Amino acid sequence: MTSLAKNTLLLNFVGDEGIEEWRQFFLPHFPDLHIAAWNDRSVDPASVHYACVWKPERGRLASFPALRVILSEGAGVDHILSDATLPRHIPVTRMVTTETAARMADYVVMASYMLVRQIPAIVQAQRQQRWDNSLTGRLVSETTIGILGVGQLGSQAAQRLLLNGFRVNGWSRSGKTLPGMTCYSGDSGLQAMLVQSDIIVNLLPDTAETRGIINDDFLAQLPKGAGIINVGRGHQLQSEALLRALHRNHLSGAVLDVFPSEPLPADNPLWRHPGIIITGHVASLISTHAKAHHAIAVIKADRSGQPLPMLYNRESGY
Ligand code: NDP
Ligand code: OXD
Repeated sequence: MTSLAKNTLLLNFVGDEGIEEWRQFFLPHFPDLHIAAWNDRSVDPASVHYACVWKPERGRLASFPALRVILSEGAGVDHILSDATLPRHIPVTRMVTTETAARMADYVVMASYMLVRQIPAIVQAQRQQRWDNSLTGRLVSETTIGILGVGQLGSQAAQRLLLNGFRVNGWSRSGKTLPGMTCYSGDSGLQAMLVQSDIIVNLLPDTAETRGIINDDFLAQLPKGAGIINVGRGHQLQSEALLRALHRNHLSGAVLDVFPSEPLPADNPLWRHPGIIITGHVASLISTHAKAHHAIAVIKADRSGQPLPMLYNRESGY
């Protein structure tokens, strides 16, 4: 039976069992808005005004004729834009919240300490029941971190690293002025940052310009013993180049959260490399409360004709 709702928000990451919790968040703000799960067959496609999604199947968003806003369930929108059938006139918003930035900063600080204190090598020694008191690491105060992408998340992570006593630099498309750190841009700026970075944190969005950016040339510019933290997107890091740099001991370790294909296939050599710590895309997954709060702000803005928060910019590509 088709629902009589005049306008619907569809969610593709919540099953029937989770929908009631979402309805409770929305009810006080939009009593007229029907909240439904992606595969709820009672929903009339013509009633779908909003869709909040993670990796929607190709063609599905194009099947809603009255769609007003596509809300990404994440900060990145690559998983939506990769659908060639996507109606290009519909605005897409990025899910960036205070919690997103705080969780990402937590992860980046945690991963930086792991590299500074040689945790990949220490875990390997433990697995081999080998007592190795040469694995003392280095001082945070003598460690320089270079952040690729100092936008919403990179700039917050930078501030937290500074608070922890790291030296921090950042690289972005436009030159920036951020407290306590030196900011670079352009190819020469990237080179200037890389040669002094003991750790690189990648927080770039997935675009044609950033894909494959961490390659052999990039890694060769880092000082010997440097480490990599990849929390941006998997396609930005060339994993063969990373493995080569680890193999010849040019790099000392890596903490990887994102991969070109997720879940990372079982036969991928990254899983077994002793210098690599792998987490399954968990750097900054946020609570239902934070997601709902953000979605409410987006829908309120749309309904009142205000600028949409965290709007994806088609010109810049992020
Ligand atoms: P923003 O759009 O706020 O920031 C992007 C930054 O990257 C900006 O500083 C921008 O420069 C810079 N940038 C973009 N393109 C280039 C380029 N070609 N050269 C140099 N710098 C560039 O994004 P967020 O900080 O909100 O998010 C970043 C990414 O983090 C997301 O797109 C997503 O892929 C990833 N992410 C991963 C998560 C995880 O759990 N692993 C969770 C959330 C996000 P400028 O400032 O000049 O515009
Ligand atoms: C995101 C992510 O983009 O979790 O938010 O990767």
